Amino acid sequence: PNTTGLIFAMREEQEGLEAFIQHKKVHRIAKRDFIQGELWGHPVVMVLAGIGKVAAASTTNQLIHHFQVNQLILSGVAGAADPFLKVGDIVIADALLQHDMDASPLFPRFEIPLSGKSRFFAHKNLHKELQNAIAQFIQVMQEHFSASLIAEFQLQNVKLHTGLIASGDQFIHDSKVLKELKQALPDLLAVEMEGAAIAQVCEEHDLAFAILRTISDSADETAHVDFLSFVKNVAAPYTLGILKNYFEN
Ligand code: ADE
Repeated sequence: PNTTGLIFAMREEQEGLEAFIQHKKVHRIAKRDFIQGELWGHPVVMVLAGIGKVAAASTTNQLIHHFQVNQLILSGVAGAADPFLKVGDIVIADALLQHDMDASPLFPRFEIPLSGKSRFFAHKNLHKELQNAIAQFIQVMQEHFSASLIAEFQLQNVKLHTGLIASGDQFIHDSKVLKELKQALPDLLAVEMEGAAIAQVCEEHDLAFAILRTISDSADETAHVDFLSFVKNVAAPYTLGILKNYFEN
């Protein structure tokens, strides 16, 4: 059967999902718990990778070699890199790039040296299926949240965006840093800390992957405000709703 790997960077991002996993078996490997079981009838291995590109790459490697997953989904939060994106919006990456990779002048900025590549592209079928699951979720999402939470985080008009996500080992909380990055990458939608590492490892193994991100902040001086509360109360329920739609379709 087709097994899906589900990667999370932070515990708050996977909050509530474990309770839905049936026939659970926990494998402790390299200081992480890999939770194997079924989600809405589909075989999955869920794991808390930790934050950053190395944690994500190492965990992806375990999912591929130890669990032989057939596809991999990361769901979590990201900072907006475009003023068009609002907190609560959802981004699905069609391309990913490591914004802190810079071996210039030997190689162009962002290029993974000797690979000739700076961008990794998401898998078309999985991407489309998840887009449908997200669109379906957005239509009914008002039912998932209390009126006060919708008001608090201004979730009245949530949108789905598709485009470039950049990853690096930095929590970006400075509008100058963000502006410089956006100038170098005009099509950049969001910044986070794992997606492009997962994308690189999956690309090396010809494995389908998808990176979903809920915008939690605008990667500027306010980026830390209410961050954990947002992740727990908004982003985690989003993930639950979206994965349920995806697996039940
Ligand atoms: N994940 C969520 N917000 C982020 C930010 N501002 N920078 C990096 N990763 C993030």
